Amino acid sequence: MSDYFHYQNGELYAEQVPLEDIAARFGTPCYVYSRAALTDSFLQFANALQGRDHLICYAVKANSSLAILNVFARLGAGFDIVSGGELKRVLAAGGDARKVVFSGVGKTVAEIRLALEADILCFNVESAAELERLNQVAAGMGKVAPVSLRVNPDVDAKTHPYISTGLKQNKFGVAYTEAVGLYRKAAKLPHLRITGMDCHIGSQLTETSPFIAAAKKILALVDVLAAEGIHLEHLDLGGGLGICYDDETPPAIGDYVAELLAALRGRGEKLILEPGRILVGNAGVLLTRVEYLKHGEEKNFAIVDAAMNDLMRPALYDAFHNIVPVRLENHAAPLPNPPPHAGEGAIEKSTSSIYEVVGPICETGDFIGHARSLSIAPQSLLAVLSAGAYGMSMSSNYNTRPRAAEVMVEGKVMHLVRKREEVEQLYSGESVVV
Ligand code: LLP
Repeated sequence: MSDYFHYQNGELYAEQVPLEDIAARFGTPCYVYSRAALTDSFLQFANALQGRDHLICYAVKANSSLAILNVFARLGAGFDIVSGGELKRVLAAGGDARKVVFSGVGKTVAEIRLALEADILCFNVESAAELERLNQVAAGMGKVAPVSLRVNPDVDAKTHPYISTGLKQNKFGVAYTEAVGLYRKAAKLPHLRITGMDCHIGSQLTETSPFIAAAKKILALVDVLAAEGIHLEHLDLGGGLGICYDDETPPAIGDYVAELLAALRGRGEKLILEPGRILVGNAGVLLTRVEYLKHGEEKNFAIVDAAMNDLMRPALYDAFHNIVPVRLENHAAPLPNPPPHAGEGAIEKSTSSIYEVVGPICETGDFIGHARSLSIAPQSLLAVLSAGAYGMSMSSNYNTRPRAAEVMVEGKVMHLVRKREEVEQLYSGESVVV
């Protein structure tokens, strides 16, 4: 557990706020973020990159809540976006369009227009067809689009196949062997201005060697281009640094950056990075309450009020998230003080057992964790750890479940940064045929 989520007298806190207080005030399920943790991870990058011309473009997809974007914007971050919607969020949160890079394989004409109007820093182009489209749209607007080609370095990121992006069989980027030809082509298109080269090989990497292998391949191409008179202003080495969910031992931010800088020694280009998960993953937990305990013949189930619509990672990738009690067993709440939202006579003795921690959704794949040893009772609060990245941003309304509330903690203060959705909002745009 991080310094920002810790036990004090058997009670789990986010910074200086007991998670029980947050649940009592805002209900569950609820995402809770530590502002200090967000700031800390960002500053680790900034410090490691000090003295080097750089821009840290937070990958918005990891967690696109305005409050999170705003924290990073205030710290001077740029943003890596993959849709017009993410661009609008960045602007609404006070981000600077001039620090935005736009990745993604399927940019629509409308999205390209929006980004050109906003004057973003760079389009990370992923195909020859996109290059043509970008030139055309820019021409129509009398603009010149800043361009980087996302080169697929064909490096194995050694991560989950669904989140590995830098192999030639993946849909991302332009083929390594075609990149130089496409740069030549881009150099001739009048409404494009070549500014950089980028790559992103995958997510949740726990070793530095694939990053370095990719960087070296990218640098070799940069040299080929330079020999042809095509000079780049920036190199964007993407995101992908992993976090500890269970027993992984990913490199520390400072070590990862130091290795990248060593590989770039003697290079003058501005370095752009696109970290997502590492900035937010361990800065957030998902707070959930046990609704029922069901002791079956083969398995025991803890049915909680968070589900796969709130946190999809376990169902989608079989991802592991640690699940811990908000109040440790030997620190039971005093009896005259029943927990809020408790049903009739809700104080029950905790039962220590191995539980399948599951949600209420009608799918067998709706689980948060398998075979967890927990001492809990109905109404117990649990915290699902490492839920700050790809949690809320991948949530849905499946089973017509309103999306969770989000709270940002700052020292002793809790801020509600997203209200729990109301069911009526979910169908407000719908109509019936009469
Ligand atoms: N840049 C690009 C172009 C990306 O596609 C991604 C993530 C990032 C940066 C940020 O990667 P990070 O630093 O967060 O690893 N939903 C999956 C992760 C998908 C990542 C997609 N691309 C998960 O929950 O594990």
